[in-house]
Amino acid sequence: MNQYHLPVRPRRLRQSAPMRALVRETTLRPSALVLPVFVREGATEPQPITSMPGVVQHTLDSLVAEGHRALEAGVGGIMLFGVPEAKDAVGSGAVDPDGILNLATARLSEQFGDDLLIMTDLCLDEFTDHGHCGVLDERGRVDNDATLEVYAQMAVAQAEAGAHVVGPSGMMDGQVGVIRHALDDAGFDDVTILAYTAKYASAFYGPFREAVNSSLQGDRRTYQQDPANLRESLYELELDIAEGADIVMVKPGMPYLDVLTRVAEASPVPVATYQVSGEYAMIQAAAERGWIDRQRVILESLTSFARAGADIVLTYAAIEAATWIREGAHA
Ligand code: PBG
Repeated sequence: MNQYHLPVRPRRLRQSAPMRALVRETTLRPSALVLPVFVREGATEPQPITSMPGVVQHTLDSLVAEGHRALEAGVGGIMLFGVPEAKDAVGSGAVDPDGILNLATARLSEQFGDDLLIMTDLCLDEFTDHGHCGVLDERGRVDNDATLEVYAQMAVAQAEAGAHVVGPSGMMDGQVGVIRHALDDAGFDDVTILAYTAKYASAFYGPFREAVNSSLQGDRRTYQQDPANLRESLYELELDIAEGADIVMVKPGMPYLDVLTRVAEASPVPVATYQVSGEYAMIQAAAERGWIDRQRVILESLTSFARAGADIVLTYAAIEAATWIREGAHA
């Protein structure tokens, strides 16, 4: 029936799969997906993380196997997090070349060279016995500038181990500039900085704390941002750009799509976002109960990030999603 003689019918472009493919505005690239991975010191078997079904704490060997899977799937890189056996007040394991994160980086670098982009988390929380992202002053507060000194050493240790990209995630003021300076002084001017620019004090990091055996008491609200703020993120962007960030990130992902869009509109450099542990856990939990279609929800959520302005997405589902996309799937 053509009763109303409507000249404008948007449904015309939705009528078939080829028509929808023709006009699809956003496509996900496997090479834009980055896989976060955990490597645990002393582990002889991969250790499951109960709050993140399907994600494990790797041994050095299973990490290499995961690197091969990531390379085969065509993902854009892997972001490494270390889980040390021993922690102390200043996070010594983070700067020690034999610390687990640096050892794992060296192992991957040896194995893959420049074929796989190796990114390293540049933060102290996995290595400190109090669980904070920095060192503490005598009153127990996170000491910004003392922390920057350790970050500078950590950056050089990670670069020496073979990291292509370092990801400062501690939200200390001046971290990007100090790290850039330290890397350049040590001759690592090609090591790239993926700055956690707008990182919120989020309850969505819950499962990550299990993943890295975190010993944190309290919260990170004196350095991570208030979920209520948006303007602050645009200011953080300006600062990180001025300090030399090569790529900027908004984190978490789905609850902060508005922030992502605003940062993407303003940023002169590529923008990443991180679908964090709690986002992943919620999808897994609902899918396990049969309440949602896991593959479709994952592809839809990743597409939302790209549509909102992300050039790069960190996701625990990177390998699977890359594989689905290469098989022709879309949201
Ligand atoms: C800090 C860091 C955290 C995450 C990435 N880097 C935890 C935190 O800030 O408390 C969270 C990632 C996730 O939840 O998946 N090194």
